[in-house]
Amino acid sequence: MRMVDLIEKKRDGFELTTEEIQFMIKGFTDGSIPDYQMSAMAMAIFFKGMTEKERADLTMAMVESGDQIDLSAIEGIKVDKHSTGGVGDTTTLVLGPLVAAVGVPVAKMSGRGLGHTGGTIDKLESVKGFHVEIDNEEFIKLVNKNKIAVIGQTGNLTPADKKLYALRDVTATVDSIPLIASSIMSKKIAAGADAIVLDVKTGAGAFMKTLEDSEALARAMVSIGNNVGRKTMAVISDMSQPLGYAIGNALEVEEAIETLKGQGPEDLTELCLTLGSHMVYLANKASSLEEARSMLREVMKNGEALKKFKEFLESQGGDGSVVDDPAKLPKAKYQFELEAKEDGFVKEIVADEIGTAAMLLGAGRATKESQIDLAVGLVLRKKIGDAVKKGESLVTIHSNFEDITEVKNMLYENIVISPEKTEKPTLIYKEITK
Ligand code: URA
Ligand code: CA
Repeated sequence: MRMVDLIEKKRDGFELTTEEIQFMIKGFTDGSIPDYQMSAMAMAIFFKGMTEKERADLTMAMVESGDQIDLSAIEGIKVDKHSTGGVGDTTTLVLGPLVAAVGVPVAKMSGRGLGHTGGTIDKLESVKGFHVEIDNEEFIKLVNKNKIAVIGQTGNLTPADKKLYALRDVTATVDSIPLIASSIMSKKIAAGADAIVLDVKTGAGAFMKTLEDSEALARAMVSIGNNVGRKTMAVISDMSQPLGYAIGNALEVEEAIETLKGQGPEDLTELCLTLGSHMVYLANKASSLEEARSMLREVMKNGEALKKFKEFLESQGGDGSVVDDPAKLPKAKYQFELEAKEDGFVKEIVADEIGTAAMLLGAGRATKESQIDLAVGLVLRKKIGDAVKKGESLVTIHSNFEDITEVKNMLYENIVISPEKTEKPTLIYKEITK
């Protein structure tokens, strides 16, 4: 088999066979197929697309390019949740303890990564003592005992995807639905998920800005998952404005605590109940979505969800008392209010720009080397559709430096107040199960 023939075949719009895709990914991973050929292939895929079968084959070839995590020692159906990423997305912090409290095993492998705020591990590290440096044996033991544990990225997972993603980044081939979908799904499958719930964000703060693109990506991932034997579903949710109120690491932990008590922001709570219901249902812990939802509501109300969060933090060295006293979380030196300059209604809160403002305060990493400040960030006081009066606070800015002129300017530019009443945006656009 020769790579040049496969490039030509894809260029001319034909379907690659399973063996051809395996040959290509194996050769690219071991270096026998050079970057320039893989670049040409990525561009051919960009223009010609891939069939459902090719997408499933590409995903599995990437899964098989490295280690696969074996979670078979954990009892029950392991359901993983994946979000395509947004601003102030506190869902993972809430969902883990929430579904664990009704008996769904949560075996989460998580990362730090770049972005407006840290990743899930960074956020959790704002709890004193909490750490993810546990070995696989301890990880599995904890999940079996508590139904929830988080471990840092271990093993050599999907090296083919790492290499291909880096190549796509410099060859203008990132924006290809088959390539994105197989990239995301390969990582979830290699991490050992039996079933997958996807939260595909749409809007200004999302990877996919339009509903049409978000739906195409969601459908592509759901079909890959189901074609390779993992029950998969996707929710398409709004990311035109940040989710919840808090954007920052410790600030989001506090928001998660409120939400686990049933006292969180309306949008964050609703999205967690929706995603959580699907997780509980896919894990066979409820016979319908309605039953799943009422189980989750119950553990928010009776304190079991919060208790689970505390138990989880303590099992991994964390100070669980923050759950009763969030004032123990790291706190920024200064708190400034962003005062509205006029009366009206909030029309827009441009999510990605607000996220960048949080990053300027130090809440996220711009490069791998940046240091995160766990204490800082933003807490929105208003969301789209809310009425505001001149002088009222739009945002509380938690900062460790005094001169925040640049941050304030960015926020003013991206929180649009209009004299006309505005509707709240739709939170959940679609739920896609096949
Ligand atoms: N995120 C991924 O993990 N892969 C892509 O290709 C795009 C976004
Ligand atoms: Ca939030």
